[in-house]
Amino acid sequence: MSILEVKDLTIMFGGLKAVDQFEITIHENELVGLIGPNGAGKTTIFNLLTGVYKPTNGSILVNGSVTKMMKPNEIVMLGSSRTFQNIRLFKNMTVLDNIRVAYHNRMTYNYFDGVVKNKKYRDEEAAATEVAVSLLEVFGMKGYQNDLAKNLPYGKQRKLEIARALATNPKLLLLDEPAAGMNPQETEELMHTIRFIKDQFKVSILLIEHDMKLVMGICERIVVVDYGKIIASGAPEAIRKNPAVIKAYLGE
Ligand SMILES: Nc1ncnc2c1ncn2[C@@H]1O[C@H](COP(=O)(O)OP(=O)(O)OP(=O)(O)O)[C@@H](O)[C@H]1O
Ligand SMILES: [Mg+2]
Repeated sequence: MSILEVKDLTIMFGGLKAVDQFEITIHENELVGLIGPNGAGKTTIFNLLTGVYKPTNGSILVNGSVTKMMKPNEIVMLGSSRTFQNIRLFKNMTVLDNIRVAYHNRMTYNYFDGVVKNKKYRDEEAAATEVAVSLLEVFGMKGYQNDLAKNLPYGKQRKLEIARALATNPKLLLLDEPAAGMNPQETEELMHTIRFIKDQFKVSILLIEHDMKLVMGICERIVVVDYGKIIASGAPEAIRKNPAVIKAYLGE
């Protein structure tokens, strides 16, 4: 079954068609790149997929469910999770708590359980901590768990955002320029981490990225947008040579 199925997706902002008849299908455990020049509509596509914006037209199926009437948190429950182009962490919370909070999205204890701190509450809190610690281990950040998020070096804040997105146990992970602001060594490291996540968590990933080396190096398939429209899609080698893609980037 496909994890994501998008057809005819369109949104207008005033007179501007920011996304114009976009379509994509992503299957289980696929890693797909979404690239395009500045202002092409990439982040807007993520905002549509996650329910932040309602489309003017078109359909989105996440894990087989139509998301049209859903709120962003309901779409998370379907198994879709994202990171943001501009890091959005709880800056004054610890690294561990940033992940624990995300895990709470899938907890089942209620307000009463929490107030009396009964067994159900304690079990789920313990599970949240366990998941958070093991995610930090994956990212080589266990030693930072008690640091405040705001005190982490930039590259580690980016990683923490990805770890947090994984805490909801997604089937689809949407990464919006995860390497932005990283140095070449951090970018290289991140490339490996993204591949590792795909294999380890059996998750499908849609990756927006400006760093061509990163995208070409790890994606199985790439979709290129310009002015809201798909101008090319296919294997990295074909995309690299595609005249429309070269023109879109040189024209920047
Ligand atoms: N809420 C909004 N209201 C009006 N216009 C918007 C809104 N959000 C995005 N846009 C416009 O839609 C277009 C696409 O923007 P978007 O942020 O999706 O591009 P992008 O491909 O993510 O660019 P970048 O690579 O710079 O992040 C731009 O022209 C932008 O100004
Ligand atoms: Mg963007």
